[in-house]
Amino acid sequence: MRAPLHTIDLIRTKRDGGSLNAHEIGFLVCGAANGSIPAEQLSAWLMAAFLRGLSLDETRTLTLAMRDSGEKFSPARLGKAAVDKHSTGGVGDKTSFLVAPIAAACGLAVPMISGRALGHTGGTLDKLESIPGYRTALSLQEFESVLRKCGASIVSQSPALVPADRVLYALRDRTGTVESPGLICASILSKKLAEGLDALVLDVKTGSGAFLRKQEDAEYLAALMVATAEASGTRTVALMTDMSQPLGRCAGNWIELVESVGLLRGERPAGSEDLRELSLILAGWMIHLGGQAATPELGYARAEAALADGSALRVFFAMVEAQGGDVHAFDDPIAFHKPGATRVMDAWQSGFISAMDTTALGWAVQRLGAGREKAGEPVDPHAGIAFHARCGARVEQGQPLATLYAISAELMAEPIALLKQAITISETAPEPVDLVSRIFTRETAENYLRDAVRYQGGHPI
Ligand code: URA
Repeated sequence: MRAPLHTIDLIRTKRDGGSLNAHEIGFLVCGAANGSIPAEQLSAWLMAAFLRGLSLDETRTLTLAMRDSGEKFSPARLGKAAVDKHSTGGVGDKTSFLVAPIAAACGLAVPMISGRALGHTGGTLDKLESIPGYRTALSLQEFESVLRKCGASIVSQSPALVPADRVLYALRDRTGTVESPGLICASILSKKLAEGLDALVLDVKTGSGAFLRKQEDAEYLAALMVATAEASGTRTVALMTDMSQPLGRCAGNWIELVESVGLLRGERPAGSEDLRELSLILAGWMIHLGGQAATPELGYARAEAALADGSALRVFFAMVEAQGGDVHAFDDPIAFHKPGATRVMDAWQSGFISAMDTTALGWAVQRLGAGREKAGEPVDPHAGIAFHARCGARVEQGQPLATLYAISAELMAEPIALLKQAITISETAPEPVDLVSRIFTRETAENYLRDAVRYQGGHPI
């Protein structure tokens, strides 16, 4: 018989740099999910884990224990490979609206459980809820029925799924323990693996709008997530992608859907090229890992065909209708956009747009009403910013740089000031930045982690 465990001993072990075994981690996760371990002890353990780091084994064990802390979704009954994409979050990041219907149109099931606006980053669910009637809170049975009918479904996390993360994430948010690679990995992957996926494509953002600003921190997290998910039997790849400027032309709620549906309709507007390209690359990997193309390049070609023949658009509209949304809002999406106030911001000097502080741009979008200050607050579906010039573009003084939308003119002053600080106009053009800077597969992730452990003791952040 095992000796009974005491939380205080597990806190001391981690505090003093020791490692916990699967039984001990399971005890903590169970105690978080069922409320038997008080918040102060969980918080102390989280801080010890933050400061001491988690080993690869501990990270994997924590991920699986969290995944198993509640109900799970079983897509096996759908008779198709189940594939999803997860992004670490950014500004104007709306690839989900493209990759989910594209992958579904190519014969895969895409059970996508998404999040809400957080800090400076937008939320897929908030954007979808700007479609009148669209329901994000489906039961697991409804989720399965939409997947059967349409191939893709984008929903919110049900309270029964990964309850341990709900408790631990809320504590991390209040105790300064969010930015830990092991804890982030376990939090993100536990939710994705509870979807019962066959394959997962991770979009790990780098640059001024990314959650982890330093390239090496983002790389370590990407490699850690790939190795952890692969060790749990899910084929996984991570693409490190550029977030040194907003993705595409628009950042907000309804306006991001308008941009996405335009691309699904085959439009090729200036300023949306990076969004289209990244969506095709991500979808190409999903299609490849899901077994529908021999290589990611062939997956890309299939993804492009699904845009060209309208099949991805049909999946998107079918999903919207199946989840109660009014697709007629897209008949004339510009007319449907009814912000209370609109302001155009012009370039204050001539030159090249040489840099953007994309986190500050994200805060500007949030302050216009597209995001929230506190969990549970409503968001304005019509708020946001349309950007008219991208990094590297030559602009003349007085030329429109951005159009801001809010519910009232009083909300404009702070975002306009933020935009002025966040956008740098210089005499010289910046070096172009690669849209995808690095790709981690299982092999490259394992090699990277071996080096990181050797050189940095396994705790590089
Ligand atoms: N997103 C999550 O879901 N969890 C984290 O820990 C960080 C970002």
